[in-house]
Amino acid sequence: MSVVLPGSIIGILGGGQLGRMTGMAARSLGYDVHVLDPDPDCSARAIASRVITARFDDADAAADLARGVDVVTLEIEQIAKGSLEAVAEQAPLHPRAEAVFTIQDRIRQRTWLDRHGFPVGPFRAVGTEDECAAAVEALGPSICKAPMGGYDGRGQVRVKTPDEARAAWKSLGSGRVIVEQFLSLDFELSVLVARRADGVSAVYPPAVNYHVDGVLDWSVFPGPIPKPVADHAQQIGHAIAETMGIVGLVACELFVTTDGRLLINELAPRPHNTYHHSERGASTSQFEQLVRAVCGLPLGDVRPIAPAAIANLLGDLWEGITPDVPGALSVPDVRLHLYGKTSARPGRKMGHLSAVADSTDAALEKVLEGRRRFAKGV
Ligand SMILES: Nc1ncnc2c1ncn2[C@@H]1O[C@H](COP(=O)(O)OP(=O)(O)OP(=O)(O)O)[C@@H](O)[C@H]1O
Ligand SMILES: [Mg+2]
Repeated sequence: MSVVLPGSIIGILGGGQLGRMTGMAARSLGYDVHVLDPDPDCSARAIASRVITARFDDADAAADLARGVDVVTLEIEQIAKGSLEAVAEQAPLHPRAEAVFTIQDRIRQRTWLDRHGFPVGPFRAVGTEDECAAAVEALGPSICKAPMGGYDGRGQVRVKTPDEARAAWKSLGSGRVIVEQFLSLDFELSVLVARRADGVSAVYPPAVNYHVDGVLDWSVFPGPIPKPVADHAQQIGHAIAETMGIVGLVACELFVTTDGRLLINELAPRPHNTYHHSERGASTSQFEQLVRAVCGLPLGDVRPIAPAAIANLLGDLWEGITPDVPGALSVPDVRLHLYGKTSARPGRKMGHLSAVADSTDAALEKVLEGRRRFAKGV
């Protein structure tokens, strides 16, 4: 395994907040960072010494990024296959193109999980309106999800009847749809696995996550859940990273259903919103861990060092007000993380608040109080 030492340059496909925070960790370790993103004002611009402005299906631009750096990773999975392959011809790409290709399409991903015996809820992949209606007839109340391009609950329609499924098929307009049975959830959790090229890996303890309208609202770490559930989730995450041959990070979102099943919701081959508290609550943040993993450095300790929480700050909070930053920061121990985005659209992730405390409940109370003050405006 080749080691990429500080002083080298890390290329990142994607310049959103995940790329920005990964880049900050890389810079702390003494690396330089180059980024490719379609948005010239992307969040990671602030920490990158070179920004290539290009679409993710521009294979020439991707090759250009790769030629100028020592190793390439990514912060978004929606990168065209041709671009991934073009990168891999010029520089080590972690995770590898094939794994990203499998994960980036919900149908490919879910089919892969199912075929390898990983636990997932009932689903059907459909290619016509009639099949979509028939799937809902068979599965009952469901969520119809476009296979690509959706995030933060976008590209999804909740349906109860075959007629609603027909309407959902039309509104998604994606030509292929995954119909997932609507599950009764007790709670949601995630695990994060870091793995190096030589197979050495580390699995973070699970986080417990709370979503509103399909978007992450808050997350706590380590998740206050029974040890057998935590152990099982970590085993699943580890097995996925091994089977897929992930180098870098893979996050696994899971459901615990009200009837006690542990089922995989979805995967992400990159840092994840539900581990932002690893910057406060874990010995090694997810961002530093990604750098260590793709550079072949020793993986950092994933031990919790303090119960931690984050609460997301969505663009809605900016509607008609100037958020009260000093107010939020007046809550003891609360830290503010803003991603440098200039336009605050509703639903857009603008930043988050983090805190640590004696318990995850207490840490959560701090970030929620911080957000209440933030939202009052000045
Ligand atoms: N089959 C399901 N049954 C019940 N709830 C679901 C189901 N699928 C999704 N959800 C709810 O919607 C949330 C978002 O779903 P999903 O993870 O598929 O969307 P996403 O757009 O990828 O979101 P994100 O980018 O925030 O991860 C889940 O975390 C869960 O709260
Ligand atoms: Mg999700």
